[in-house]
Amino acid sequence: SFFKKLESEHFLPLYTVTSMEYLAKAENILKNNNLSFIEITYRSELASKAIKQLSESDELIVGAGTVRSLDTAKEAVENGAKFIVTPGFSDEIVTYCIEKNIPILPGTVTPSEIMRAQSYGLKVVKFFPANVYGGLDAVKSLSGPFSDIKFVPTGGVNKTNYQEFIENPNILAIGGSFILSEKAIIKDEGFSAEQSLAELVAPYAD
Ligand code: 3PG
Repeated sequence: SFFKKLESEHFLPLYTVTSMEYLAKAENILKNNNLSFIEITYRSELASKAIKQLSESDELIVGAGTVRSLDTAKEAVENGAKFIVTPGFSDEIVTYCIEKNIPILPGTVTPSEIMRAQSYGLKVVKFFPANVYGGLDAVKSLSGPFSDIKFVPTGGVNKTNYQEFIENPNILAIGGSFILSEKAIIKDEGFSAEQSLAELVAPYAD
């Protein structure tokens, strides 16, 4: 299933597209490192176009992130998004995704929000912004009452702290822009972006 696969890969790269030029490169870099997921954020005008291209090339499992309205969720799915990530909790987006059988990662930070996610039968939530809302300590505390919930922390997860997040058993996967960014690809035209991703995933490669 979607969540089992994400759990086995550990990484959910969050990618903001400001130029279509580097998208195929990003796709290759992820593939070469045996990563299947990419979350294209609705933080740029090119999100739908990028989702469509990635969906058509079918090399990665493409989803939409920073989805803040039902219309955006629908637009993403029409363009081929296979999963939806929201920064906060939206009843109408969650309802839509469940109806359409599309995996949804809703942003939650408080026990109330997690309980709300549970009321829809969800077992995995995004924990965002992880750094501001207590980081790993918060995940550990929340995992007391919510031992049946798995978290995907994002926001301030970075090269120096991601391993301790991944190693927590209540964390399904980690997300973030540090995994692979367009900026990193542009800066060095691909090679050292690929090298640096290889170093990141090395401890968890099969
Ligand atoms: C998100 O939307 O998940 C976060 O903005 C990712 O945060 P990061 O850029 O610190 O990884």
